[in-house]
Amino acid sequence: MQSAGVEDPYKVAQQAAEFVTKKFGGQHDVLAVLGSGWAHAASVLDATNEISVTEIPGFTKPSAIGHGGTLKSVKVGNSRVLLLTGRTHLYEGHGVNAVVHAVRTAWFAGCKTVVLTNAAGCLRQDWGVGATAVISDHINLTGFSPLTGADAPAPLHGRFVDLTDAYSLRLREIAKQVDPTLHEGVYMGYHGPHFETPAEIRAARVWGADLVGMSTVMETIAARHLGMEVLALSLATNLAAGITGEKLSGDEVLEIGKASSQRVGTLLANILKQIDLANGKKN
Ligand code: HPA
Repeated sequence: MQSAGVEDPYKVAQQAAEFVTKKFGGQHDVLAVLGSGWAHAASVLDATNEISVTEIPGFTKPSAIGHGGTLKSVKVGNSRVLLLTGRTHLYEGHGVNAVVHAVRTAWFAGCKTVVLTNAAGCLRQDWGVGATAVISDHINLTGFSPLTGADAPAPLHGRFVDLTDAYSLRLREIAKQVDPTLHEGVYMGYHGPHFETPAEIRAARVWGADLVGMSTVMETIAARHLGMEVLALSLATNLAAGITGEKLSGDEVLEIGKASSQRVGTLLANILKQIDLANGKKN
């Protein structure tokens, strides 16, 4: 099977989309990606069909704990949602095209909207652990771009993609109507998998970050390149390095994720319902 890491990632994504569309019997409208702590959404939303990502051309099974390896087809109102139960991260070493393969596949499969979720370290003590936030903007500190390499084949947009409104204001407003307690902030994307140093967190604060994490930014850039509308949601699983003086641990991140799973899963399901209603009104 061809990997999404080879030279024409768009061709592999198109093949993947054809496979998914055939398996699920039609095109989809929205891609939702479940990050750590968001897995409960998969049980709140009734899937009509599901496949293991290992069956789909170019997909890599996520190796991060708390990330599933299934793509589900879910009906939310009039929308058909592709629900990916786990993502591939840059730090897994499969290359940037593997990280954004699901986004490109979803676009070829008809999706115009992407909802990304993640677990993040929080720089805002006033928000606290367990807080949820919509991402208003990002700072990409990974050193990577999904648009590195050959230009995308015509008629796709070229490589100089505008990111002034990367995270849709319309979708952020919809999310905040669903849950007015949602915070809003800037996400700084690191490569990982190590956590940041306290000095890096101090620098992140000076640069305007509210949240730090190891995902989301590549997927957002790839989605905007394809003209998709992006909503990204973070669950603050810990205060960022150096804030409390305590050491950070992956187990703590998973524990908070598990404890919040029901709440954030329901939140995501409700947001998807509102997006469906708003898109219905828009169309
Ligand atoms: N840093 C980076 N990624 C994370 C963190 C963090 O503190 N918490 C959860 N994901």
